[in-house]
Amino acid sequence: MSIQSTVKVVTTHVLSEMKLKGEKISMLTSYDYSMARIVDQAGIDVILVGDSASNVMAGNETTLPMTLDQMIYHGTSVVRGVKRALVVVDMPFGSYQGNSKEAVSSAIRIMKETAADAVKLEGGEEILESVQRIISAGIPVMGHLGLTPQSIHKFGTYAVRAKQEEEAEKLVRDAHMLEEVGCFAIVIEKVPAALATRVAQELSIPIIGIGAGGGVDGQVLVIHDMLGINQEFSPRFLRRYHNLFAEMTGAVSNYIADVKSGDFPNEREQY
Ligand code: KIV
Repeated sequence: MSIQSTVKVVTTHVLSEMKLKGEKISMLTSYDYSMARIVDQAGIDVILVGDSASNVMAGNETTLPMTLDQMIYHGTSVVRGVKRALVVVDMPFGSYQGNSKEAVSSAIRIMKETAADAVKLEGGEEILESVQRIISAGIPVMGHLGLTPQSIHKFGTYAVRAKQEEEAEKLVRDAHMLEEVGCFAIVIEKVPAALATRVAQELSIPIIGIGAGGGVDGQVLVIHDMLGINQEFSPRFLRRYHNLFAEMTGAVSNYIADVKSGDFPNEREQY
């Protein structure tokens, strides 16, 4: 019997057992109570309260405008809707890059005010001291390497990362460092599949990929992208499981037509 079908609550320990047994980990984003309930009840292993909320919830171009207060608001709403999945909250841009003391205070606020299970930070060696101090404070940390959207202005593009040997070797070194300081898992975004597979094979903690091929220990997607709510974003790695944009505009059009024609409400829909 699979771990996924037997476990009542997903913990970081469950995720490492899944890696050991070769059972893939499923992860999706959510930003609000209602969506988190649906995703949790469907049986997802990990829910990420991603700072991609900046794009899909707030309509920003980048993830940079997201504040700590906004992430805490989204995190709190998600946690209220979840009974089983492990909930990870993204630390937003500017809440941990300054210094490690500020990083710990931001992580403590997230854990205290949202009751989430863990935090996620983007970067490797550059933020290692912060990661170390957060873990020392008893807070589980998920790393994030490869394409790190909070550094978009440094790299200037959302193209595939670590195609050149130098960058690929740095990514492998960073992954080892994050494992050594105690991260329980790492997201690797938009890098060549062979590189992500190598990292998953070398490390004993789970590697969750997005645009990183099938040789890793699990997959994550942004819920608005995979449900087809967000139509503007179609990278090669994205599989759409629904066309909710069309379904929802269809439903709204039907409602408008019913209101205009006087068909809604009918006699059974009134007091
Ligand atoms: O913010 C987010 O949704 C993420 C995923 C893309 C991994 O970090």
